[in-house]
Amino acid sequence: MLNKRLSEQDPEVFSLVEKETDRQNQNAEMIASENFASKAVMEAMGSALTNKYAEGLPGKRYYGGCKFVDVVEDLARDRAKTLFGADWVNVQPHSGAQANAAVYLTFMKPGDKLLGFDLSHGGHLTHGSPVNFSGIMYDAHFYGVEKETGRLDMNKIREKAKEVKPRMLSIGASAYTRDFDYEAFRDIADEVGAFLWMDMAHTAGLIAAKLLNDPLPWAHVTTTTTHKTLRGPRGGMILVGRDTENTIGKIAPKSGRVKNWGEVLDGAVFPGTQGGPLMHVIAAKAVAFGEALQPDFKVYQQQVLKNAKAMAGALTEMGYNLVSGGTDNHLLLIDLRNKNITGTTAENILGAAEITVNKNMVPFDTESPFVTSGIRVGAPAMTTRGMKEPEFEYLAKLMDQVLSNPTDEQMHHKTAQEVKALCERFPLYDAVAI
Ligand SMILES: Cc1ncc(COP(=O)(O)O)c(C=O)c1O
Repeated sequence: MLNKRLSEQDPEVFSLVEKETDRQNQNAEMIASENFASKAVMEAMGSALTNKYAEGLPGKRYYGGCKFVDVVEDLARDRAKTLFGADWVNVQPHSGAQANAAVYLTFMKPGDKLLGFDLSHGGHLTHGSPVNFSGIMYDAHFYGVEKETGRLDMNKIREKAKEVKPRMLSIGASAYTRDFDYEAFRDIADEVGAFLWMDMAHTAGLIAAKLLNDPLPWAHVTTTTTHKTLRGPRGGMILVGRDTENTIGKIAPKSGRVKNWGEVLDGAVFPGTQGGPLMHVIAAKAVAFGEALQPDFKVYQQQVLKNAKAMAGALTEMGYNLVSGGTDNHLLLIDLRNKNITGTTAENILGAAEITVNKNMVPFDTESPFVTSGIRVGAPAMTTRGMKEPEFEYLAKLMDQVLSNPTDEQMHHKTAQEVKALCERFPLYDAVAI
């Protein structure tokens, strides 16, 4: 039983994995938070390391038999430090939300005030949404973008911070197309005596490639996922940049007793919010960080930016309304109100044409979160397949032919064939990606 292949042991699950692999191969994957991990990353994830319990940290485990996984975790930590210029990292968070939970546990007491980026303007659930622990346990307040520009106004954020006086000020988004001014955020945090936390889940790959502003010198703590632009396994990570003046300590409660904030954050991951680390995923993170340290990773990220811009240009020319008027990163947020179509309908009909996007609230949306007025479109996954500007312009044209003919099923079918032909020119995985 132990040595049987999946196809033999469990044909039912195997066939579903095969179908999903085919779907990924034949589909225009435009969800901004998704990407395609390499086979090397997936091989590490599917390895015998899944069997190992390793509560604790390298050299300080609660279990025996950790001599090899210790080296794996050290490799992952060292590579991440090099990639982001961090002084300290923890690679154990099972996901982005878990990394964020450890940040809250470290810097906030229940009832403390948070000032975060409004979810309906591009923020994330874990930044104080009332349906998430961050909004249930803490007193969450929000800043958002300006109606006219779709962009953040740092003066307004400063005013809000002075009014709210948060314990923690958070930055980071899942649907914001512009870069952040971290220095200005830090200045605000210092003025009101708040911790500054950046969640770079979406843009970590672009930041690692130094194509976007670097939050690490400014934020007291930075979190990320490892599976979006960073193109690794599904998971999370926490980083601290240089804090030589111990600015964290100066604003922290009991700061006199805390010498090393990395140690406090380590404790907030385990035992604070998690049990045993997923050593197979940590091995896959090490592989992904190794890939990201290669020169071609920067070339890939440069192409992501070029492709997102090419698509933004093509859609704008066809009369689409992009929130903030374009993009500086890997994603576009399209306000479909002038096209008289909701986000849900757009997601569904594009899905029928094998173009996968997600419906998304646009700032000042008049529809509910289940319907929405917009869609979010991202370039990372199709860029991984090797597509460049002409293909992204073509994809924009295919999207338009579906969105302009919302009830024409024949057109959706024809588009699906065109998407399939495009994908065949840019092969992804072999038949089964395991
Ligand atoms: C900004 C941001 N933070 C955190 C997360 C949560 O990551 P995960 O789904 O791995 O928990 C996401 C996921 O979309 C995100 O966009």
